Amino acid sequence: MTNCMKNKDLLKEKSIIMWNEDKIEAFQKTLLDWYDANKRDLPWRRTSNPYYIWISEIMLQQTQVDTVIPYYERFINTLPEINDLAEASEDTLLKLWEGLGYYSRVRNMKVAAGQIMADHNGIFPEDYEAIKSLKGIGPYTAGAVSSIAFNQPQPAVDGNVMRVLSRLFEIELDIGKPSSRKVFEEMIRLLIDRERPGDFNQALMDLGATICTPKNYKPETSPVKDFNASYLNETWERYPIKQGKKKVREEAYIALAVSNDKGEYLFQKRGSEGVLSGMWTFLMIPADILDEDGWKSFGGSAESLTQVQSEILVDYIKKEYGLIIAFNNSLKGTYTHIFSHLKWHLSIYEAKVVAETVTGHSLHPIHPDDFSDIAFPVPTQKVWNMVNAITLF
Ligand code: ADE
Repeated sequence: MTNCMKNKDLLKEKSIIMWNEDKIEAFQKTLLDWYDANKRDLPWRRTSNPYYIWISEIMLQQTQVDTVIPYYERFINTLPEINDLAEASEDTLLKLWEGLGYYSRVRNMKVAAGQIMADHNGIFPEDYEAIKSLKGIGPYTAGAVSSIAFNQPQPAVDGNVMRVLSRLFEIELDIGKPSSRKVFEEMIRLLIDRERPGDFNQALMDLGATICTPKNYKPETSPVKDFNASYLNETWERYPIKQGKKKVREEAYIALAVSNDKGEYLFQKRGSEGVLSGMWTFLMIPADILDEDGWKSFGGSAESLTQVQSEILVDYIKKEYGLIIAFNNSLKGTYTHIFSHLKWHLSIYEAKVVAETVTGHSLHPIHPDDFSDIAFPVPTQKVWNMVNAITLF
């Protein structure tokens, strides 16, 4: 059985009826003509260097195009060759990534650059499976790099592409389920333009980002509306199907900016697991130590601490960190940070070190004059801005 037949069987099993060859060809032409006339002028579209395209694709995974552009430019100027990335220090990398979030992305890239140096003589591999075996590269990134940089007809299916296809074909699959992606990939294998696979994938991305959007979608404005079953059947509001959205966990903290008599602030390094691993934060005290309703008090509306809560807090800091502090019970502000499946609600306060107990503390003092040398994650920057009431970062 040919691969094409296998693809078709999988689609049949899911009750998806693929277009005939003439219609596929007409779709490719319509989509690529629209792309040629309307494509966004993006810096990574002016290169076929796989290393640069890889960098852009990793940055674009959780971040908007407009935000990515200056980060991309700075990254390739600072680390123009794969070897530069393989040898870059953690500090350099975190500084280049500061503010983008999801820092494991850049740590994985360094590991992958090391793999390319060790296993591929420093040359970015062309083979799809070889690309996919690099650290941090999954089917989406492998497909994007191999189609855009090496002109290979590989699918690059992300949420945008699933939304576009769901609407075009009235797909009943839940796009949140990992098993669905394989079906969409098989569809792209049948639909992709074999002459211009990279442009085809990017045209779908652009369509998803600019016209076939999650909200305020107007199917009548789409260049491919004549191919769009959900538009023609007036069912488009139903698609894409997204069930059982993962629940977002919510946590509330007192973010405490503690300074000493030298004017330094005390930072803690996060552990190697979980969000912001290995990054510096101000002290983060779980709000539920303050009382059973810690979450209620600090998860939404911000208030000053009660006398009892202040005492519990001061006591906690002494036990956990070996510090005697003078707590300033005046709320500096609140900030909510949203990670993919977790929300942090921070209530921000200040304190001064009065004394250290004999055990000393494990915190790291940093003077504000030196802040610019360090890659602080966004929540730390926000806390500092509120403590300082000016934007320094
Ligand atoms: N999002 C992810 N990859 C992209 C690309 N190559 N162009 C535009 N948006 C993207």
